[in-house]
Amino acid sequence: MLKAAVIGVGSMGRNHVRVYREMEVVNLVGVADQHAPTAAKIGATYSVPYYTDYRQMLDECQPDLVTLAVPTILHHEVGLELIERGIHLLIEKPIASTYEQGKALVEKARKHNVILAVGHIERFNPAVMELRRRVREGMAGRIYQVHAQRLSPYPSRIRDAGVVIDLASHDIDLMRYLIDEPIIRLYGETLKSINSDREDMFNGIIRFRSGVVGVLDVNWITPTKIRKLTLTGARGLFTCDLLSQELFFYENETAPSQWDTLSILRGVNEGNILGIRIQRHEPLAAELADFVNAVRDGRSPTITGEDGLETLRIALDFMRSGAEVAILDEEAQPA
Ligand SMILES: NC(=O)c1ccc[n+]([C@@H]2O[C@H](COP(=O)([O-])OP(=O)(O)OC[C@H]3O[C@@H](n4cnc5c(N)ncnc54)[C@H](O)[C@@H]3O)[C@@H](O)[C@H]2O)c1
Repeated sequence: MLKAAVIGVGSMGRNHVRVYREMEVVNLVGVADQHAPTAAKIGATYSVPYYTDYRQMLDECQPDLVTLAVPTILHHEVGLELIERGIHLLIEKPIASTYEQGKALVEKARKHNVILAVGHIERFNPAVMELRRRVREGMAGRIYQVHAQRLSPYPSRIRDAGVVIDLASHDIDLMRYLIDEPIIRLYGETLKSINSDREDMFNGIIRFRSGVVGVLDVNWITPTKIRKLTLTGARGLFTCDLLSQELFFYENETAPSQWDTLSILRGVNEGNILGIRIQRHEPLAAELADFVNAVRDGRSPTITGEDGLETLRIALDFMRSGAEVAILDEEAQPA
């Protein structure tokens, strides 16, 4: 049995504790959180030894693998230490706060032969998995556009990252996963609307090599939680609700009636609507099973450190792009 531990058992880390506890192939040997009441509460809830000092936990529990779910700003420091100790790790997304820090983690993991996974959990959403399978089979035909909406209320506990790195990184990773092509161009606009210290609203556009356009609409200024993905192709439109794990396909009408020939020539027509049956599961359980199996079999996890680093690079490029693109000369613009 592999020995697992979790460092940082706040809002996200405690879910990792619960899932490891339910897994038959791992033994959850310890949890650590510097906030003593949190460590004690999670330790007691899941009957697992708890610590406020993660180093002491590592020394005493000797885990083979660890989930690192401390605030993003600490991923680099704690992650490097885990790698130096030869412990396989799943770092919650995003991999780090800066590109250099993420790169150092990836390089060190490679050097020490440590498996490094990054928690871009949406790849394990069963609706996304089904969408990807069907897109690859050609159900949508040639893909034109993928559009992601991730709107949320403000998470007051997150103080070390803005909405692009913290939240849009989910959709950047999803688009990379679905389209699976190099990105040749991108542009983003951010706004500090309610918060003055970091951006809480983001709109971005990506162009992939074959011409697919990705549109991102992500914010922390919405009084309800929306997580939606649509994908438009030559044969129709997929809509995916990431929260309810629902997937629909709106087919383009392919056989126009004799009266309709002209409208078909001008554009698409409404066809059948298909509700696709999804075998629902908890994405986190699938993510951790993938990580544990990767450690057990000595293979790459589905989301590698390199994936996490590339997603972070794109998020940082988005943030720079709006600031660096020159404003057109007003006089040169058409009236
Ligand atoms: N995959 C997802 O969908 C998802 C969702 C939420 C958060 N996250 C990520 O998880 C990470 C944690 O976010 P959160 O929302 O759980 O934050 P949080 O503040 O709720 O939890 C972080 C915990 O880490 C503890 N901590 C801080 N420094 C520590 C240290 N040196 N040693 C031990 N414990 C320490 C804190 O006491 C706190 O309990 C972030 O990187 C975030 O981006 C991912």
